[in-house]
Amino acid sequence: MFSGSLRGRLLWWLLLPLAAFVSVSGMISFRNAQTTADLVQNNALLSSIRIIGEDIDWDNGNVTIQIPPAALELFESPEQDSVFYRVEASGHRLLAGSAELPLPARTGEGPTLYYTRLDDGRSVRAAAYVRQLYDSGRTERVVVAVAKTEGSRDAMVWRLLRPQLFGEVLTLLLAMVFVYLGLTFELRPLMKVKDDVEDRNPSQLEPIRVARLHVELKPIVEAINQCIARMGQQAATQRQFISDAAHQMRTPLALLDAQIQFARQCENHDVPLAEALSGMHKSGRKLTTLTNKLLLLAQAESATPFSARERIDLSALIASVLEELISFAQSREIDLGAELEAGLFVAGDEALTAALVTNLVDNALRYTQRGGRVTVETQAGGDVAIVRVVDNGPGIGAQARARVFERFYRASNHAEGTGLGLPIVKEIAQRQGGTVGLEPGENGVGLIATVEMRLWAAPP
Ligand SMILES: Nc1ncnc2c1ncn2[C@@H]1O[C@H](COP(=O)(O)OP(=O)(O)OP(=O)(O)O)[C@@H](O)[C@H]1O
Ligand SMILES: [Mg+2]
Repeated sequence: MFSGSLRGRLLWWLLLPLAAFVSVSGMISFRNAQTTADLVQNNALLSSIRIIGEDIDWDNGNVTIQIPPAALELFESPEQDSVFYRVEASGHRLLAGSAELPLPARTGEGPTLYYTRLDDGRSVRAAAYVRQLYDSGRTERVVVAVAKTEGSRDAMVWRLLRPQLFGEVLTLLLAMVFVYLGLTFELRPLMKVKDDVEDRNPSQLEPIRVARLHVELKPIVEAINQCIARMGQQAATQRQFISDAAHQMRTPLALLDAQIQFARQCENHDVPLAEALSGMHKSGRKLTTLTNKLLLLAQAESATPFSARERIDLSALIASVLEELISFAQSREIDLGAELEAGLFVAGDEALTAALVTNLVDNALRYTQRGGRVTVETQAGGDVAIVRVVDNGPGIGAQARARVFERFYRASNHAEGTGLGLPIVKEIAQRQGGTVGLEPGENGVGLIATVEMRLWAAPP
């Protein structure tokens, strides 16, 4: 029970002993109430037999008795208990009351208190005592017994017990409520740690900072922070490795490319060799592209998050990217246009931002059919600049759209590619505090890639 909840477990630890305490103390209170009620009932019975005993007298040589009303009035109560009495002289001669009330088996000097059962099965509490009467040499032994049912006694037990029980149950309930509220309040720093960890994206590796942390929680958060620091180091080492490897590969790849070009230019090739060289050339190009993309991804990943290092003129940057891509657009007979808002300055790394735009426009040009149209638009929106790359190509289906930001995922194999373009775009956008999204174009035709970038704010 409550195995998964700290609050539940702590409640359990507190309530279990508290409930045990309340039960024991309830039992003691019950015993005390019984003792008190018995005492009151016994006293009434003893008083009653005494009063009756006082009124036994000799009358003309005979023992007589007049039951005084006070002796029975003692037992008046709202519970209306039945009262019985029996006064008996020597030789079982009944002087008053009813013989139905059994007498105690033995009567000693003083009064005797006893429980007995009437013929009709009712259980009663009784008191009896023996009075010796002397008159002119005669001795008479008179037994007086009074009994009552226990309704008033039981009611008294309950009356004495009720406030005690009420207090104890109330204490238990209040303890539960206060423990619950207290825990909820005291667990808030822990919940903040949880939110902090939960809201992080995988690349966010700063230590967790929580104000006013309990002494008990500090070691846990410190341990998590140490773990985060180690993960950060590990990630940095990996990025560095990929970046170094890509750098190292670039030079031999460029060399290989040049050598293949040279070999292809030499004359007297037979056909198979020319084909082989052409294949090698293609593979070399692919490897170069892949290496460049891996390098770009590593650079994007190692950019400081949300850093606003440079003030970038967005329109100028996009114009120069489009200029570079215009010949590619022409080769694919695509109408490449732009609607740029002047005076938009964003914060970020210029080379990475250019790579972001290049990748989006490159995709639009690559996947849109010949004769299609690609437009890049910019626009200010609040404290962000919005860049939209709109094409009228095949677009991306909803299922694939959910996956295209995964590394090496490709939705189609029509054109060549590595599947790293959009992951690079996302990494750069996020590193610069922006977002990227894809949606179908107007009437479901084509694709609209939207990037929001932070506008440049002059440092205070
Ligand atoms: N404008 C677009 N129109 C249609 N499909 C697109 C468009 N942009 C991207 N895609 C699809 O999304 C997939 C992932 O794109 P991404 O840019 O990540 O990789 P790639 O273009 O295949 O390779 P790379 O850009 O690394 O050379 C592509 O394979 C393509 O199927
Ligand atoms: Mg691409």
